[in-house]
Amino acid sequence: MNYDFCYTVSRRGFLAAVAGAAITASMRTAGASAIDERQIKVAPGEARFSGADGPPTAVWTYNGTVPGPALRLRQGQPVRITVENGLDEGTTVHWHGIRLPNAMDGVPGLTQPPIRPGESFVYEFTPPDAGTFWYHPHADSLVQIGRGLAGPLIIEEAEPVAVDRDLLWLLQDWRLTKDGRIAGGFGSMMDASMSGRVGNLVTVNGQAQGGQSVRAGERLRLRLANASLARMMALRFEGHRPIVLAIDGQPCDPHEPEDGRLVLAPAMRIDIALDMQGDPGSRHDVIDDFYDGLAYRLTTLAYDKAPPLRAHPLDTPQALPRNPLPEPDLTNAVRQEIVLQGGMMGGGKLAGVGGMTGMGMPGMNGGAAWAINGMSMTGDGHAGMAPQFTLERGASCHLTMRNETAWWHPMHVHGFSLSVLSRNGSPVPHRQWQDTVLLAPRDVIECAFVADNPGDWMLHCHVADHQMAGLMTVFRVT
Ligand code: C2O
Ligand code: CU
Ligand code: CU
Repeated sequence: MNYDFCYTVSRRGFLAAVAGAAITASMRTAGASAIDERQIKVAPGEARFSGADGPPTAVWTYNGTVPGPALRLRQGQPVRITVENGLDEGTTVHWHGIRLPNAMDGVPGLTQPPIRPGESFVYEFTPPDAGTFWYHPHADSLVQIGRGLAGPLIIEEAEPVAVDRDLLWLLQDWRLTKDGRIAGGFGSMMDASMSGRVGNLVTVNGQAQGGQSVRAGERLRLRLANASLARMMALRFEGHRPIVLAIDGQPCDPHEPEDGRLVLAPAMRIDIALDMQGDPGSRHDVIDDFYDGLAYRLTTLAYDKAPPLRAHPLDTPQALPRNPLPEPDLTNAVRQEIVLQGGMMGGGKLAGVGGMTGMGMPGMNGGAAWAINGMSMTGDGHAGMAPQFTLERGASCHLTMRNETAWWHPMHVHGFSLSVLSRNGSPVPHRQWQDTVLLAPRDVIECAFVADNPGDWMLHCHVADHQMAGLMTVFRVT
């Protein structure tokens, strides 16, 4: 598909165009939709994780808040977002999961120079896909995301979906000192070569002890986004049966998650339909039990005393309208393989990676602990990163990702969404597309995509410490 034109958002017109498979050139002249203008200022600020009366924590913010403001944009409508840097170090904004022109991708060195202190950068793109995305810096990522820079990005469907309320929980994990400050020591070799910087406080939309008030009988669309540096999550909604509608913004066949657990690795999003079948006045916990023996209550669903909104629950939720993703041609696809290597093994030893060669930012501190296909690219992105492989524009690519390490890795691809075909030889059901694919230790995952978006694109683990310490690569679409 084309990324460089604006299509009109006459609601029916848009859907008809998508359904008709080809968005024709005639639509270019159908009149450009108004440009949606937004402003974001990046600056230090203060957050109160335990409510207005709680102690303040010094953080870095978008427009003064943690998380940043929820940007609600419209599918197919051009947007212009001016980002002003009020930090005293360079930054960029990456629009995670959005299929946009390479120059708007926010990777320092690779797609743009960092925005210097006091300067601005204007991002312009037209989101082709509706769904739940997020935005975050891609410069000094470990520190900048770890100090709070992250915000939700919602691309609204041209036709609204029938639910009573549309809510979003942006989840962040903080490593705080006893007196409530963000702990230093970013990028220690210990974090880098093991599970990454997992923190000790998880917030939902910036609040640690909040609850979610709900009404009996209502149906929620709940958008979950894990904006943590390293914490994996597996959410259970006690007494409720969530139905997965979309993963990483991309609609899938609606289904109940395995064991009722929603696994959300860093950078992943899941949209669920949640029918509030509890009794008026009741309370139900939402538990994260990803790590054995370390389950905790993330939040509580607190039912209003009001009588149920409707006598009978709604029928099974409807599938969300699919996005205009090109179907890969598997019979003629180019095969590529990405092998994840390195990390700490048993006995506190770093895994030896045969022929591991470094390609770091000059003068960057911290070494490489990981590699992809024997090569360690460290840091956030910088000029001169040689592509691991090159694809011709329009080619289908069959990508195998093989995790040879003893750790979990949410592998994220910029600029594309991947059709997830199989995990360890078993087909992945529900027609899932993802931009962030979680590999358990030793997993082998096969995916496919059409290389329709030219540029140099990053592919990396979204555990920030892992990315910084070598679990990153670049591929080129000509
Ligand atoms: Cu969410 Cu390379 O990023
Ligand atoms: Cu991304
Ligand atoms: Cu990783």
